[in-house]
Amino acid sequence: MANLSTKYLGLELKSPVIVSAGPYTQTIESLKKLEAAGAGAVVLKSIFEEQIEDDVANEYKANEDYLNWSVAESHFMEHGKDYYIDRYMRLLIEAKKNLSIPVIASVCCKTTEEWIDYAERFVNCKADAIELNYYPLASDASVDGKDVEKTLFEFAKLAKKKISCPVAIKMGNKYSSMANVISKLDAIGIDGAVLFNRFYRPDIDIENLSFVHGPELSSPVEYSEALRWIGLSSGEVKMDLCGNTGIHDGETVVKMLLAGAKAVEVCTVIIREGAEAITKMNDFISSWMDKKGYDSLNQFIGKLAQERNSEGYKWERTQFLNMIK
Ligand SMILES: Cc1cc2nc3c(=O)[nH]c(=O)nc-3n(C[C@H](O)[C@H](O)[C@H](O)COP(=O)(O)O)c2cc1C
Repeated sequence: MANLSTKYLGLELKSPVIVSAGPYTQTIESLKKLEAAGAGAVVLKSIFEEQIEDDVANEYKANEDYLNWSVAESHFMEHGKDYYIDRYMRLLIEAKKNLSIPVIASVCCKTTEEWIDYAERFVNCKADAIELNYYPLASDASVDGKDVEKTLFEFAKLAKKKISCPVAIKMGNKYSSMANVISKLDAIGIDGAVLFNRFYRPDIDIENLSFVHGPELSSPVEYSEALRWIGLSSGEVKMDLCGNTGIHDGETVVKMLLAGAKAVEVCTVIIREGAEAITKMNDFISSWMDKKGYDSLNQFIGKLAQERNSEGYKWERTQFLNMIK
């Protein structure tokens, strides 16, 4: 059997298949199943500052009658937040105790101070790495693109300075100059970038004239956006790139590795097929490697990346040129 080990964020992974933050990475029982099925690492479900604020505010409202001292509200809000962070830390500590694969904590906050505060607490609980679930939508018409990117770079600089374990940024795919953004994050010293986070998709119910959410789960056609940017950037940066969104089978994992990804993250396929999907992916990669005569991933990671391939310019093609005959 081929050796599927890879190095991602300086961590030794026995498979390139990482389970990304989602419903399957929030209990110990489920995490153990993912490890047993062959996951290379797990990213715990994100802790969301926004969700904590909502939950604490709702809890306060429900208990308002008992909390009528003037200081009660601020006291409740502060300690309520700690309750949720402590709960996350307990999951992390238990996961580290029970698993032998790397455990990555995932943080999504609104203010820089909170990002760093949460991340530092998780580093103290021995998280192997921190994934920053950076999810801005440039919806303010008065802010130009350069400033949106500047905010990301300033945040990345501070994160790298303050967080004393490997740091990955899980990015959105809506920057005007993606190659430049990836290269600047690399220059800042960020250890890895996950390309790409999948945004929540708003939709409208035309019968009830109401907002609903669009498909929560990805479709396999969505992987090509990550494939393109990994193919274009992997040869240019030192940081590790990790493919995400639309990766539903072993064949797509192999494509991501050929483009230069060190690992991939998967979520939808686990929700649809359970942990066994990881075993199937590992088996596929292994038999493909046997067929091609590869013993290790390093022999082919990045083989089709733009700078290492004579046809690499094809990553840049944006138009269909007489493809349908
Ligand atoms: C139900 C659900 C919950 C998710 N929760 C998180 C989360 O807490 N943090 C995060 O970074 N991504 C979260 N994601 C996004 C996934 O980790 C992943 O990035 C996205 O689904 C694309 O990968 P996929 O195509 O394999 O599903 C969630 C996705 C789903 C479907």
